[in-house]
Amino acid sequence: MAQGRGKRRNGGAMKGGIDDLAIFGAPPAFREKLYVGRPNIGDRERLLARINDLIDRKWLTNNGPYVQEFERRVADSLGVKHCISMCNGTVALEIATRALGLTGEVIVPSFTFVATAHALQWQEITPVFCDIQPETFTFAHARVEEMITPRTTGIIGVHLWGRPCDVEALTGIARRRRLRLLFDAAHAFGCSHQGRMIGQFGDAEILSFHATKFLNTFEGGAVLTGDDALARKIRLMKNFGFSGYDDVVYIGINGKMSEVAAAMGLTGLESIDDFIGANRRNYALYRDGLSGIPGIRPVLYDERERCNYQYVVLEVDEASSGVGRDTLVDVLHAENVIARRYFHPGAHRMEPYRSCFPHAGLVLPVTERLTRRVLSLPTGTSIGADEIREICAILRLAVANAPGLGARLGAVPPSR
Ligand SMILES: Cc1ncc(COP(=O)(O)O)c(C=O)c1O
Repeated sequence: MAQGRGKRRNGGAMKGGIDDLAIFGAPPAFREKLYVGRPNIGDRERLLARINDLIDRKWLTNNGPYVQEFERRVADSLGVKHCISMCNGTVALEIATRALGLTGEVIVPSFTFVATAHALQWQEITPVFCDIQPETFTFAHARVEEMITPRTTGIIGVHLWGRPCDVEALTGIARRRRLRLLFDAAHAFGCSHQGRMIGQFGDAEILSFHATKFLNTFEGGAVLTGDDALARKIRLMKNFGFSGYDDVVYIGINGKMSEVAAAMGLTGLESIDDFIGANRRNYALYRDGLSGIPGIRPVLYDERERCNYQYVVLEVDEASSGVGRDTLVDVLHAENVIARRYFHPGAHRMEPYRSCFPHAGLVLPVTERLTRRVLSLPTGTSIGADEIREICAILRLAVANAPGLGARLGAVPPSR
């Protein structure tokens, strides 16, 4: 597997002073851009053999053998009865939402990728944005209860960055208030909660296998559920409602995963341990390399659980670091480290939600604060230890020189 072994690093010593920063005109630390979410790719020969095979077979889509095998393997590895593969995670959310009969209002976090909200609004269901807990970045369940109205039909919890929601609290609320419970587990393939794999909770959970995700199928997704009737309905819905060659028994759309996507997924599944190993090593390197920098707090994973370590996220407390999150992102971008502000500014500040619900921020104080403080750093199989050490050194240098940085950047035009 291709590992980044410092190949892209510009030669010479690490940056030692503020004048060495690329934002002030010095050469960038890396010749090529380092991206968040560079795809994890398994064994190329195995993938190409599968692609040759499916071309020989001339079975490219419509529940082919690779799709069936991929569904079986995912279901088995997560200990869930049904895995229904999809063309992407957004369609998986839309179909699951519809199959669960959600209407009216559904409670969701705003601190998520906008697809969680769009999947509802696309179907004219109102996403009601609920605040999160500052420690976990997932639903504040006491707030969830307060957002329920007579129009509420469901709750969608998001296992953000693969860190599980408070599943027990949400399950209790859903049961007591007779609501459907769906989890957006787009980030959480291979993660567990209290020893049980994500995928086993709620009425259903959805996965994304987008290229940037821990396990990818180029584009792809899945719905996971233990409910036979729901699984059958979802299978019909994702294939135009066809139950036989020419018998349509239900309204449906096209949510099918292709054979080539499943071939990619099966190949990736064979390298899961390598992907986790690389991510885990990177996470530990960042955690150690950033320790002691004032105001920079890596978001930690619970190491007693299974975890994919796919996201390296920092929370920046400007009062302690002396440098704001956005300035650090500018400094990193200048060095060709394309850090991302996931999930800034929060779905409630994006269209159509910011126009429809201009006051949503009033009930989202934690979301509003955290969207201004987080940044994600490159990890995965295409970045090496030297590169991570250099990224940490750049952050350390920026914070150590916060006053000088601030003063000089006052004169530099903002990059975004
Ligand atoms: C939390 C979350 N939900 C849903 C999605 C949508 O998945 P997809 O891109 O596969 O449609 C994504 C990511 O892309 C995501 O991060």
